[in-house]
Amino acid sequence: MTHVYFKGTPLETVALKDIDLEIPRGEFLALLGASGSGKSTLVQHFNGLLQPTSGQVSVFGVDAASRRNRNSLWRKVGLVFQFPERQIFSSTVYEDIAFGPRNLGLDEKEVRHRVVEALTDVGLAEDMLQCDPITLSGGLSRRVAIAGVLAMQTPALILDEPGAGLDPQAKKQILQALKRRQLKKGTTIVVITHYLEDAVEFAGLVAVLSSGELIAAGPPQQILSQPELLLGAGLEPPFPVELTHKLSVNGVRLMGAPITIDDLARVLHRTYLKTKPGDG
Ligand SMILES: Nc1ncnc2c1ncn2[C@@H]1O[C@H](COP(=O)(O)OP(=O)(O)OP(=O)(O)O)[C@@H](O)[C@H]1O
Ligand SMILES: [Mg+2]
Repeated sequence: MTHVYFKGTPLETVALKDIDLEIPRGEFLALLGASGSGKSTLVQHFNGLLQPTSGQVSVFGVDAASRRNRNSLWRKVGLVFQFPERQIFSSTVYEDIAFGPRNLGLDEKEVRHRVVEALTDVGLAEDMLQCDPITLSGGLSRRVAIAGVLAMQTPALILDEPGAGLDPQAKKQILQALKRRQLKKGTTIVVITHYLEDAVEFAGLVAVLSSGELIAAGPPQQILSQPELLLGAGLEPPFPVELTHKLSVNGVRLMGAPITIDDLARVLHRTYLKTKPGDG
């Protein structure tokens, strides 16, 4: 599929070009790419917010662009925007998180259960429920906004840079909550992130956008171990990949292609001590 903003005007921008990507049900996809590469544009097609200029986007077997399907897709695909705190409008944290589940027609007992669960998932305490969202810091309101979408318990969840502006611990907590959803409930997860470390740790599938084109898609080990590919897309390779690359340019060959720090430690150990990995 292709997406062109302001087609036929002087402002015409080809944001996505001939994207061909399949996300298997229950997969955890990390969508990577430099600023302006088309990530946010792409995910807004997954719940019909944007329609392709040409081509098709099929979500759970239906055409996401058709008006009829669009109205039911919000029950299936939860989308957390890039700056979700701007979407907050209720007078208490409880009301804000409860908004989505109530719209699903659930009774108040179930709504409360989901609100509390979602709040815990994003690492917030229950005593926060009666706070006015306006009084919260940026990081806290970000977490409340994410909880609001989690509480919908949709079979697919899309988060556009959920960790931006959060401290590393909060970011990790949210990614862990998403991972639990994937493993426990089979939820399909799509996370846009600039941090390749997140992709390594949580994703089963990585896709890389560069200037509106999908230049790579596959398992993290396969994609993230290619420093030239990542640099070409304006991304910084993970530290172990960069180190391995620099060593090899200088004629030092490691026995493996580590993408995480733990991998790197094992590979160095193996290379220099010639012992089996995991021997200590
Ligand atoms: N609403 C819009 N109207 C016109 N052009 C847009 C709009 N949104 C995005 N674009 C353009 O489409 C291209 C892709 O933008 P997009 O926001 O999808 O990139 P991104 O990968 O999400 O970037 P970032 O990492 O900065 O969020 C850019 O050239 C951008 O200027
Ligand atoms: Mg974006």
